[in-house]
Amino acid sequence: MRHVVITGTNRGLGQAFLDHLAADPGTRVLALARSFPDEQRDHPHITTRACDLADPASLPDAAELAKFFVGATEAAVVHNAAVIEPIGEVGALDPEALTRSVAVNLTTPMLLTNSAVAARPHGVPLRILFVSSGAAHHVISGWSAYSATKRGGEEFFAHVAAEGRDDLVSAVSVDPGVLDTGMQAEIRAADFAERQRFIDRHQRGELRPAAVVAAEILAAHLPPSFSRRS
Ligand SMILES: NC(=O)c1ccc[n+]([C@@H]2O[C@H](COP(=O)([O-])OP(=O)(O)OC[C@H]3O[C@@H](n4cnc5c(N)ncnc54)[C@H](OP(=O)(O)O)[C@@H]3O)[C@@H](O)[C@H]2O)c1
Repeated sequence: MRHVVITGTNRGLGQAFLDHLAADPGTRVLALARSFPDEQRDHPHITTRACDLADPASLPDAAELAKFFVGATEAAVVHNAAVIEPIGEVGALDPEALTRSVAVNLTTPMLLTNSAVAARPHGVPLRILFVSSGAAHHVISGWSAYSATKRGGEEFFAHVAAEGRDDLVSAVSVDPGVLDTGMQAEIRAADFAERQRFIDRHQRGELRPAAVVAAEILAAHLPPSFSRRS
């Protein structure tokens, strides 16, 4: 049985991940989000756990994750949730939004991973998937917070991967590309120099459906029975 923790599941890519994971009879999912549609609450393979990912005090700790991992032959954490805001020049960033960005995009993935590695049952492989962004490696004027948190996450998960824990803990950062989700709508509505490029991409129909991208990422990095394939 594969037990998967995933963040930010009520819309966008996270919802698409959850739909795919919950459809697998061999998978149980712990969904961490601020709200849940009824079909997630009622799904027999999903445990919903409300939390504000900007607030470390509301996250499940190692003891809670250990309970969820009971019975697992494989465990995984998908760090999906992120915020694009604040968009703007350094010096004009809203301090609360900046703090929230670091908390959701970087601190929470680090804390949850620390707890998940501690909670992993003896001998059970644990795979960590960090949803990053191409912005981790490019300067997009006004995107300093988002870029820095994604780059920081990639560095953290490179360390997790290097530590390895007898080859039982693996970690990978994945860039999903440009998706047709609420985050892109926020980007098109924001005020920054390259905004028109994102509007043009949307108008040209270049944004990929979250369901398609979620399926590709899971097939590549978190297939059913992943430990027997790697
Ligand atoms: N969209 C793109 O083109 C694109 C490109 C590259 C990378 N990515 C990455 O892909 C991942 C998914 O992005 P998306 O496009 O699906 O974004 P999205 O549509 O904006 O959805 C973000 C998700 O994160 C959740 N979230 C944000 N802050 C939260 C908080 N404080 N507590 C709990 N949940 C919170 C949201 O829940 P609420 O409804 O409660 O806010 C929502 O479920 C992100 O890591 C993003 O950086 C996206």
